[in-house]
Amino acid sequence: MERLDKLICSQSDITRTQAGRIIRAGRVLVNGQACRRPETKVDPEQDSLTVDGKPLTYRRFVYWMLNKPAGILCVSRDPNRRTVVDLLPPAEKHRQLFPAGRLDRDTVGLVILTNDGAYAHRLLAPRSGIRKRYLVRLDGPVLPAHVQAFAAGVELADGTKCLPAELKIIEDTSTALAEVEIAEGKYHQIKRMFGTIGLGVEQLKRCRIGALELDPALKEGECRPLKPSEIDLSLQNGVLFL
Ligand code: URA
Repeated sequence: MERLDKLICSQSDITRTQAGRIIRAGRVLVNGQACRRPETKVDPEQDSLTVDGKPLTYRRFVYWMLNKPAGILCVSRDPNRRTVVDLLPPAEKHRQLFPAGRLDRDTVGLVILTNDGAYAHRLLAPRSGIRKRYLVRLDGPVLPAHVQAFAAGVELADGTKCLPAELKIIEDTSTALAEVEIAEGKYHQIKRMFGTIGLGVEQLKRCRIGALELDPALKEGECRPLKPSEIDLSLQNGVLFL
């Protein structure tokens, strides 16, 4: 069972406050009866809901944006250690959510959790070419030659060839801050790519998937549902670095 206002805002682009207003105005019918109490508990699978006479079709699939902190495993479950799924609200636990794409334990930033396998596949399949952008603190300076090497596609130590990647210097210091954008997700890819140019990754944060940015209002460890428009954004490729 879910609160009516929470359910309506999770199924549309409106905020919880707006949902409350719509409900109190009598614009929401639950099983044909106007329900003016936002806190009413409804069963999204059983109860029929309309907003302004239009049926609200319940989406079985859910999508959450998480700002992953360091030290948390990016897997669905682990017998001993905390995982990204443990950071979701308890009410979501029954939905069998999993992270759409992995980050290392020490990597922070944007993770999408969902129970929609087809969506996760689209997001991750190399054929989709959805780009992921990372902010990287390095243990040395980034040189123009490194930018060119990434643009040409680096070859990892084991001979794996990477697709061309965009590398942009944000702070040109002896421990440079850079942004890097890749369209694939090989194991430890960013760390291994910098390894090929002799640089160690001190801190790594994923800040964007497709055209979807990590919400700056989310503190590390916090999560919130994605709006339908944001789900679409995650599947679009954003503008490349200038
Ligand atoms: N590349 C890495 O090396 N680590 C991550 O967590 C993500 C991309």
